[in-house]
Amino acid sequence: MMARQGQETAIGNSAWPSWMLLLAAVLFWGFTQARADERAVLAAEVQQRIDAFDEIDQLFRALRFKVVNQRSQDHQGALVYADQLVQLAYQLPGLFEAETPRQVIPFSRARPEIWSRKARYDFLMDEFLDNLEEIQALLRQARLTDAGHRIDRTAQSCRRCHDPFRYRR
Ligand code: HEC
Repeated sequence: MMARQGQETAIGNSAWPSWMLLLAAVLFWGFTQARADERAVLAAEVQQRIDAFDEIDQLFRALRFKVVNQRSQDHQGALVYADQLVQLAYQLPGLFEAETPRQVIPFSRARPEIWSRKARYDFLMDEFLDNLEEIQALLRQARLTDAGHRIDRTAQSCRRCHDPFRYRR
């Protein structure tokens, strides 16, 4: 009994009083919590852009099939796809603002070159948005053949950006 009391006093007088240990624990918890929050915000942003790209993929296929393969003359119907494509694509630039390394967000396929070669990436993104706006404008004017050509050219811009800026898997 006496011996145990002695031990307790020794701990109480150590260089790390218990309040300091508690403070350190709280600070450490706060730090880890902040890191976890930051990661959750980034993950949500990455998920948003993947969802946007998935929708763009489906709409773009539908638009291409209608205008290029089927040679549909229904420009109003095609315009519904084009309008949605433009709205979705406008969200993209804002969803690439923060760097999202794979060590932090493993499910992202974004390569670090997006941020280290930002001018090139932004150029390709702008070109993509311009193409979608042009398709929209051509469809408004019921110029379906011209819209078809522009759709084919835009399909190449998907690959031109994915090759350098998206991991294969
Ligand atoms: C300016 C660059 C750029 C353009 C243009 C672009 N993409 Fe992407 N795309 C990306 C990047 C980067 C990702 C990876 C995002 C991530 O995982 O964080 C991606 C992801 C995707 C995904 C999500 C699926 C997955 O698992 O990665 C699909 C689908 C997709 N793109 C389709 C398209 C299609 C279709 C087009 C053209 C109509 C297109 N993209 C144009 C850069 C681009």
